[in-house]
Amino acid sequence: MKTSPSVLTQEETAFLVRQRVARLATADVAGEPHAVPVCFALAGASVYIALDEKPKRVPVSGLKRVRNILENPEVALVADRYAEDWDLLTFVMLRGRAELLEADTGEHLAAVRLLRGKYHQYEAMRIQENPVIAIRLERAVSWGALDQPKLPEPPVLDTIHGRRSVRRYLPKEVPDDLLEQVLEAARWAPSPHGRQPWRFAVVRSGETKERLAEAMGEEWRANLEMDGQGAEIVEKRLEGSRRRLLDAPVLVLLCLYLEDLDEYLDAGRRRGETTMAVQSLGAAAQNALLAAYDLGLDAGWMCAPLFCPEKVVEALGLDHELVPHALLTLGYADGDPPKRRSRRPIDELVVYRD
Ligand SMILES: Cc1cc2nc3c(=O)[nH]c(=O)nc-3n(C[C@H](O)[C@H](O)[C@H](O)COP(=O)(O)O)c2cc1C
Repeated sequence: MKTSPSVLTQEETAFLVRQRVARLATADVAGEPHAVPVCFALAGASVYIALDEKPKRVPVSGLKRVRNILENPEVALVADRYAEDWDLLTFVMLRGRAELLEADTGEHLAAVRLLRGKYHQYEAMRIQENPVIAIRLERAVSWGALDQPKLPEPPVLDTIHGRRSVRRYLPKEVPDDLLEQVLEAARWAPSPHGRQPWRFAVVRSGETKERLAEAMGEEWRANLEMDGQGAEIVEKRLEGSRRRLLDAPVLVLLCLYLEDLDEYLDAGRRRGETTMAVQSLGAAAQNALLAAYDLGLDAGWMCAPLFCPEKVVEALGLDHELVPHALLTLGYADGDPPKRRSRRPIDELVVYRD
């Protein structure tokens, strides 16, 4: 079904917006073809392609694709998926007329915003200073398994199924670059209004871990005693928790930071804002756990800071606006964890209401 005014079907649009790269074909007046891989964004019946600052040596007006478009605006763009299972092969080919949008026009600004939204790498590049290629789509041809559901299991599900909580670690250092990638994954979690209402504190030194264990231990001891636990059990549990903190090569404390959230006069919406922030902290934690597992690291989650946030802030000398919520331990598992929780079957968790 072609959707007006677009020249694309819904299936073609859905396929294209998931693609990160396409091939742009242009030709000069003599018909000599030229094809380059491009990043692109689609809006309605236009495709936008940035001219980035990489080819500094060549001004953008000297780029072959730009010269071709100025001589001959007829272009083609193809996005495709290759898979060894040939039932999954797909492509969409778009044809149209290209033009160059000059900087500082309304459509140029909107196109730059769109491209930066799709590719975060463009945020650090001065693409706003260069023209943007706009292709006005005229025709689309597609072939293959555009909306084929029989895709291989996405790699992220492998990671989700493989991740597990680890509570004992080898005394093996976590390289800085891996830790940075784990934090990068957390940084990209969804958050209310995109405000990222969380901050992370990383602890590596034995001395600081000791201080933290001491501070949280005090609180836990008081709670266990209040629950009427016997002295021996209290000591055993505290020692177990202390060892967990000291033996993990890296601790990442996840804190809420509520200062940038919307403020409301009514309690209901204030509560809603805070709940959203907590939900989003959970998403950041899960991003970190999955990234860690994907990077060959293991991780565990400790809720203890939630029950003594001020003591944790004090022990680590943190800003008082931070509210500690969870501690992630990171390292390499000292063997497979003894127990792995199974999961409830999906039909206990989901109802479908058409
Ligand atoms: C909010 C939250 C708090 C948790 N707190 C702790 C904790 O304090 N100590 C602990 O050993 N595990 C903690 N966990 C880990 C869970 O016990 C674990 O995720 C669950 O048993 C499932 O096992 P798996 O992670 O290996 O799949 C916590 C998990 C969540 C989501």
